[in-house]
Amino acid sequence: MDSIKIASNSLLITLTISLFLLLSSNPCKAQLSPTFYTSTCPNATNVIRTSIRRAISAERRMAASLIRLHFHDCFVQGCDASILLDETPSIQSEKTAVPNNNSVRGFGVIEAAKREVERICPGVVSCADILTLAARDASVMVGGPSWEVKLGRRDSTTASRALANSDLPSPFADLNTLIAFFDNKGLSVRDMVALSGSHTIGQAQCFLFRARIYSNGSDINPGFARTRQRQCPQTGGDSNLAPLDLVTPNSFDNNYFRNLLQRKGLLQSDQILLSGGSTDSIVNEYRRSPAKFKSDFADAMIKMGEIQPLLGTNGIIRRVCNAIN
Ligand code: HEM
Ligand SMILES: *[C@@H]1O[C@H](CO)[C@@H](O)[C@H](O)[C@H]1NC(C)=O
Ligand SMILES: *[C@@H]1O[C@H](CO)[C@@H](O)[C@H](O)[C@H]1NC(C)=O
Ligand SMILES: *[C@@H]1O[C@H](CO)[C@@H](O)[C@H](O)[C@H]1NC(C)=O
Repeated sequence: MDSIKIASNSLLITLTISLFLLLSSNPCKAQLSPTFYTSTCPNATNVIRTSIRRAISAERRMAASLIRLHFHDCFVQGCDASILLDETPSIQSEKTAVPNNNSVRGFGVIEAAKREVERICPGVVSCADILTLAARDASVMVGGPSWEVKLGRRDSTTASRALANSDLPSPFADLNTLIAFFDNKGLSVRDMVALSGSHTIGQAQCFLFRARIYSNGSDINPGFARTRQRQCPQTGGDSNLAPLDLVTPNSFDNNYFRNLLQRKGLLQSDQILLSGGSTDSIVNEYRRSPAKFKSDFADAMIKMGEIQPLLGTNGIIRRVCNAIN
C-alpha cells in the first residue's frame, strides 16, 4: 500500500516538473512555420510564385541569380534581406561589397514580387521570406528540387558591407577556407558540396576565372581552357560571361559534378571540390546519383534559409525592400 502511494506521489511530482518545464520553455516563443501567413495573407505564396515565374520565363538566368541572391543574403547577418537595402547616410549597402558589386542581381524581381504582395496584404509579408520563397520557386522552375519553406523571417533595419566582404567565400579560396566559411554559418561539408551544385545553372564573369583558364595547370582540361579563352582574353573583357555548367547552363541537373570529373569546373572553387581532399567522395556520390544530389540540395537550402532569422518582434516588415520604413 505504502509503496503504491510513494510511486503515485513521485509520478505526480514528475508530471508537475514536466508541466513546469513545458510552460517555462515559453510555448509562445516565435519560430519559423510553413503556415505563418495562412491567416494573415493566405494567397501570399501563390502571388509570389506567379511573380517569380513571370521573371524567369522572361530570362532563364534569373533563376540562378535569385538563388545566389538568397545565399548572399543569408551569409551576411542571417536571412534578413539586408542585401536589398540601398546606401543611405546610416546604411552601408551590401550591394557594393566586393562579392556583390556588379555581380549579384535580381533586385528588381524581388521588388516587383513585394509590390504585388503589398497590394493584397500591406505590411504583412517580409522581404526576407520573399527571397527565401523565390529561391525555392526558382529551383523548381529550372528542374531542381522543391521543398517546404518555413516562414516568419523579418527584415533587418541594418546592413553590413563589412560583413559582406568578410563572410562570403571567394572563388580563389582553398578547400579548407571554403569549408571554414560554411562551418562558420553552421553548414557542413556535405551542405557546402550540395549547395555548390547550384553552379549547375548561371554564369560567371571572365575576371573571376581568367587565372584558372590561363594557368596551364593539371587540374583543368586543356580543350576546355582553350574554349573559355575565346571569350575571356588575357586582358580586357573582364565582365564577359561564361556558363558555370558548360553542358546545360539553364537546367538544374548533376552535370556540374560530371564536369568536375572531366576537370571542366569553371571556377577554382568548383574544381577544388575534386582535388584529392575530403569532398571528393561527395562529388562522386552526386555524380552517380542525381536523386541524392537533389534531396541533399533541398535539405541544405532549408538549412541555409534558416541562418539567424529575425523573429517575433525583432526586425520589421519593410514596405519596400530597398529601404527601411
Ligand atoms: C562554395 C563557395 C562559393 C563560391 C566561391 C562562389 C562563387 C561564385 C562566383 C564567383 C560566381 C560568379 C559571379 C559573377 O561572375 O559575377 C557565382 C555564381 C553563382 N553562384 Fe556561387 N559560389 C559559392 C557557393 C554558392 C552557393 C552556396 C550558392 C547557392 C546556394 C551559389 C549559387 C550561385 C549561382 C546560382 C550563381 C550564378 C548566378 C547568376 O548567373 O546570376 N554559389 N558563385
Ligand atoms: C491568388 O493568387 C493567384 C496568383 O496571383 C491568383 O491567380 C488567384 O486568383 C489568387 N486567389 C485568390 C483567392 O485571390
Ligand atoms: C562598384 O562598382 C562601380 C562600377 O559599376 C564602381 O564605380 C564602384 O566604385 C564600386 N564600388 C565599390 C565599393 O567598390
Ligand atoms: C601557359 O602557356 C601559354 C602558351 O605556352 C603561355 O603563353 C602562358 O604564359 C602560360 N601561362 C602560365 C600561367 O604559365
